[in-house]
Amino acid sequence: MLNSEDKIKLLLREVNNDLLNFKKSPLYKYRIENKNLPVFGEGSCRARIMFIGEAPGKKESQTGRPFCGASGKMLDVLLESVGLKREDVYITNIVKDRPPENRDPSKEEIEMYSSFLDRQIKIIQPKIIATLGRFSMNYIMRHFGLEDEIEIISKAHGKSYEAKFSYGKVKIIPLYHPAVALYNGGMRKVLKKDFKILAE
Ligand code: URA
Repeated sequence: MLNSEDKIKLLLREVNNDLLNFKKSPLYKYRIENKNLPVFGEGSCRARIMFIGEAPGKKESQTGRPFCGASGKMLDVLLESVGLKREDVYITNIVKDRPPENRDPSKEEIEMYSSFLDRQIKIIQPKIIATLGRFSMNYIMRHFGLEDEIEIISKAHGKSYEAKFSYGKVKIIPLYHPAVALYNGGMRKVLKKDFKILAE
């Protein structure tokens, strides 16, 4: 008999298998040509908090792990600042394959890959979704029926929006992308302050 955690893991594996064979995506071709890996997501399958970034960068697509490069180190620092560990949360992206030259994901790519994220959310059922950057903020706010409340990220960051979803109430917390803090001490302070809302 499978326990509920095993069931969650099994369902996530099915989504990951579909991603591995996602041949219809133009980024799939780029993945294969460059011997890249898709980046599904990782962390606790029972996480209360899910972080959603944009798309994998070079290091992520070499290892298959989300946020393992410079932005990831910053994310680790921010998590640690509020007493959270990677193992306590779930970390993923909207787009699961690396766009060429680390460019921003296109509207079409976000649309194409969002079903993987939607399935991950339904399976893991996080109570809090922290979006990292404007792409995931815009997507998630719409997905949770909050399109009328969308603001630019400089206004929305650090706020908490409540949504009702198929599995219950979810808090959406838009945050700046950790990459903005890499070379900007001021933004690091803003992000650290915004992260405190997660600890609360
Ligand atoms: N930036 C993202 O948005 N996601 C990653 O996984 C790495 C960098």
